[in-house]
This record gives sequence, C-alpha cells and structure tokens, in this order.
Amino acid sequence: MKIVHTIKELQAELTILKTQDKKVGLVPTMGALHAGHASLVKRSAKENDVTVVSVFVNPTQFNDKNDLLKYPRTLDADCKLLEANGCSFVFAPSVEEMYPEPDTRTFSFAPLDTVMEGAFRPGHFNGVAQIVSKLFDAVKPHRAYFGEKDFQQVAIIREMVKQLNYDIEIVGCPIIREEDGLALSSRNARLSAEEREIALKISQTLFKSRTFAADHSVNETIRFVEESIAAERGLRLEYFKLVDGNTLQDIEDWADTNYAVGCITVFCGDVRLIDNIKYKEI
Ligand code: PAF
Repeated sequence: MKIVHTIKELQAELTILKTQDKKVGLVPTMGALHAGHASLVKRSAKENDVTVVSVFVNPTQFNDKNDLLKYPRTLDADCKLLEANGCSFVFAPSVEEMYPEPDTRTFSFAPLDTVMEGAFRPGHFNGVAQIVSKLFDAVKPHRAYFGEKDFQQVAIIREMVKQLNYDIEIVGCPIIREEDGLALSSRNARLSAEEREIALKISQTLFKSRTFAADHSVNETIRFVEESIAAERGLRLEYFKLVDGNTLQDIEDWADTNYAVGCITVFCGDVRLIDNIKYKEI
C-alpha cells in the first residue's frame, strides 16, 4: 500500500495500472475509519484490481465550523486499517491540493437535496458534490463505494453521476452495526459511555418500528418513532422521515412505494447521529 498526497503522484501511479487494463475502485472517506469503512474497502478490493481510498476532511461540506474543528483526524491508525483490508493507495491530500482556488460551483439535485440533511444542513450536499466530483476527476475510477448509513448522500451521488455523465458505477453498501445494533459512525467516538448506552435507543427504536409498521399506517409508524425517541432522556430528535428510497420524498401510505425507508437524525448530547432502516424493498 502506498500513501500519496498529490493528484499528480496518484495519477502517475494509476495511469500505468490503467494501461494494463486494471479496474480501479474508489472509496472516498473523511478518515477516522472504522469497520463500516473497512467493509467498503474490502468490497472494492474484491471487485477491482486496485483500490484507492481518499482520506480528506472536506471543509466545504461542513455548515458548522465547530463540527469541522472537532472532526477526528487519525491518519496513522486509518492507514493500518486500510492496509489490513486490501487498500492499494491512500490518497491523503491537503486542503490546498484539493482547493487551490475556492470552489464556486453550485449544484442542484432537487428535490433530493432539499429534504432531510439538505434541509437541516444547508450547503452540505453542495460541498459533498464538490469534493466527490474532484475525487472522481482525479481518480477516474470504474466503481465508487459509499455506505448506506448516509442514505441521502448515496442517492445524491447517483444523481450527480447522471447529471455530469460520469462513467462510474456507484455501489451502495449496507450499514455496518455494532453487535448491539448501534450504526457505526466516526462520531460515535465522541459519545461518553453513558451517551453510548442512550444512543443505542435509536437503532432499537428503528428495529421495533419495523415490527410496528407491519400492522400500522405510515403516520402511526412516524408517531411511534417520534414518541419513542422523545421518551428517552438524553436524545433530541431532529427529524424522522418515511420516504420513497428513490425520490426521498415523504410517503403517506405504504402502497405509495415498493421502497420505503425511514431516515432519522438524533442529537445525543451534542453529537448528531444519523441512521436509517428499510421497511419495504423492491
Ligand atoms: O461520507 C463521507 O465521509 C463524505 O461525505 C465523503 C463522501 C467522503 C465526501 O467528503
């Protein structure tokens, strides 16, 4: 495994491999890697000849400066995890390398980016599209791997690929959970032991809501989740939405879609956690 810091170095390595017809997989990350990321890297290593993992805390996608400052940076530990899981190249650029000039591009993925995270984190998906398009341009991968914990992000990246005509297969990978159900997230490291216990109620509520949904309406299921989270001291619900998994628009009736997904964002202390669950899948 090689660690490179510039686009030039990375492209020099990849050009040789692409002339040998090697398939390249890209796993974009912001570091602070855990088993969820490892599953993406493993999948890419299985499906491609070469796996590039980018580790870059992208400033343009943080609408909260404090969140950017507090974001964990653990490159040495990240490299150990990457090496153990089949990564070929770690691309760890500086902010100046990725943004030699301010990126003034604005994207619109409406209506996908106007709801949920898009509504609560203005500008977030524009920043994601800026960096992911730059990574796609730099690496020109055959496939790119994203975790479905960020369900809305995967839908938006697919839309970006369509809008910009990228010839890249987007592979959405299932959420990886702790044994007790907590969705893995780099932000979990910021939870105290007590908060970690409380945060567990998020996935537990989602799992229970799936059973509840079997004989209740969409609105009753939404109320079930809202009330269950509200009953937990230490949790503050930002939103819970039951949406069509393709359009990300609210559904009113289970019959409205073949792909129903519940997306939730909850504050546990000052840590903002997201999770989702599929109620109905095509
Ligand atoms: O999901 C993430 O970690 C980030 O949004 C991504 C895709 C690496 C872009 O910075």
